[in-house]
Amino acid sequence: MDWKHRHVLDLKDWTRDEILFLLGQAKNMDDLMDRPIRKVPALRGKLVVNLFFEASTRTRVSFELAEKMLSADVVNWSASGSSVGKGETLRDTAWTLEAMGADAVVIRHGSVGSAHYLSKKLHRASVFNGGDGAYSHPTQALLDAYTAWKHFSSLEGRKLAIIGDVLHSRVARSDVQVFKELGCEVVLSGPETLMPLDVAAMGVAYEPDPRRAVKGADMVYLLRIQRERQEEGLFPSLDEYYLRYGADEDLVARAEKGALVMHPGPINRRVEIDSAVADGSQSRILQQVRSGVAVRMALLYLCLGGVMA
Ligand code: CP
Repeated sequence: MDWKHRHVLDLKDWTRDEILFLLGQAKNMDDLMDRPIRKVPALRGKLVVNLFFEASTRTRVSFELAEKMLSADVVNWSASGSSVGKGETLRDTAWTLEAMGADAVVIRHGSVGSAHYLSKKLHRASVFNGGDGAYSHPTQALLDAYTAWKHFSSLEGRKLAIIGDVLHSRVARSDVQVFKELGCEVVLSGPETLMPLDVAAMGVAYEPDPRRAVKGADMVYLLRIQRERQEEGLFPSLDEYYLRYGADEDLVARAEKGALVMHPGPINRRVEIDSAVADGSQSRILQQVRSGVAVRMALLYLCLGGVMA
């Protein structure tokens, strides 16, 4: 395939063929991770800067691992201790890093549109969105799709139930885009106060009762309850949330036999998920983490024009 994306900002304009091609490339990278020497020279001479304005474990570490396994030079930048504290803007920070030779910038930022903004301001560097506000987390959605695709081979006609705080979730928005494009039925579930107003425009169903939502589901996807929003009184208490919406063994048993249990992490045990489910045989949570490395390797490789020879 003639790869046309220089940036990974969101998945709105990604075709099904492009997603499937990316998943195939991720499988090659996944295989590479099992080799005794997990390093190829594909991005030798390229400089990637990881620009994280918000906390992260999975996205940040997996991007860094992916970059290093492809032999890129890597700089990890974080807002704390940087000249942002002296008032430097995002644009000037990015221009400064590009002037030092950055070929790619991975950005996580609390503001919606920050990755798009950077892609317009930078002159030649690729931009990878590592999560912007509540808008988009495209690499998470692609690693979620890869994890499920690797298990089922095809996602056409499969059902995905996403349960929890959809309102504040950039993961849910990106997952809806990619799983629908791959032919899945998607149903959202959770308290009405945690649903966006545009559920119908997203082209998915809403079923408030998670025990009904998971009926026939091949994938049960729990979202992190963003404890920081609890102050807003969007649901009575974490205990009540768990009783009504938390994933326990009874909930999972109502889905298809062998349904995959997924979560983007970090997990809140006994808030949105019980340990018996998070650590159970149907859980794919740690496989998702591994997929993150493979998918980000594939994205870096394709967007930066890597050479495998
Ligand atoms: N899923 C995810 O984005 O996790 P981190 O916040 O740890 O990167």
